[in-house]
Amino acid sequence: MSQTPLRIGVLGAGRVGTAVARQAVRAGHAVTIATSKPAADIRLLTEVIVPGATAVDRQDLRGADIIVLAVPLHRYRSIDTSVLRDQVVIDTMNYWAPVDGFMDEFETGTSTSEVIAEFLGTARVVKTLNHIGYGDLELDSHPAGDPHRRALAVASDDTEAKRRVSGFIDSLGYDPVDAGPLAAGRAFENGTEIFNGRHGAERMQDLLSECGRVLADA
Ligand SMILES: NC(=O)c1ccc[n+]([C@@H]2O[C@H](COP(=O)([O-])OP(=O)(O)OC[C@H]3O[C@@H](n4cnc5c(N)ncnc54)[C@H](OP(=O)(O)O)[C@@H]3O)[C@@H](O)[C@H]2O)c1
Repeated sequence: MSQTPLRIGVLGAGRVGTAVARQAVRAGHAVTIATSKPAADIRLLTEVIVPGATAVDRQDLRGADIIVLAVPLHRYRSIDTSVLRDQVVIDTMNYWAPVDGFMDEFETGTSTSEVIAEFLGTARVVKTLNHIGYGDLELDSHPAGDPHRRALAVASDDTEAKRRVSGFIDSLGYDPVDAGPLAAGRAFENGTEIFNGRHGAERMQDLLSECGRVLADA
């Protein structure tokens, strides 16, 4: 790996959490993983599904360089916010009413990550990794410069957090593309062309600009 290894914490050991954790281990990062339950409950799962990662109690995720939040969106109010206070947090979550149930706060037209950022308080929220299928994360990974390399959009109101997360995305095998502030995350939520497709960096940039113009005119 060309960049310095990071300490990556993952909250949520389901489909997305374990896929991101596996890819992060592969990239050479030090990975811890937790759920709402004690570490002992996911130790075996971690050993089998994410070899190289360490199952921990959720409070022990604190101090990581980045914490990846991979919990179903309808469970967000059950998240222990003290774990994420002041931390750089990747919000991977999506709203899909048929699965999450109808949730008023996600029907307003703002980015779901703005709602999450407000709920989490001082967490330094970065939106990315929501628009790639968990099963594609390993398959679509390519080294920098590869013509088939896929891009992932990255949005945040915190410039330093976005820079750190962009380096992480690069290490996972994807071109990070700056999407602007968290509000611009709407451009790559459920139902958008970015959400539903694989795009290289140039096309991603064009799609983000197009969507920015549409949102500005709305
Ligand atoms: N499907 C995809 O390809 C894809 C891609 C990108 C993003 N996403 C989004 O990623 C999110 C996660 O989806 P998923 O499919 O990975 O979910 P999942 O398989 O149902 O796993 C959820 C995990 O979160 C944990 N969890 C639930 N509530 C928690 C809490 N309050 N604190 C800590 N951990 C908690 C669960 O463990 P416990 O209940 O034992 O705590 C479980 O390990 C969703 O919002 C989804 O839309 C999905």
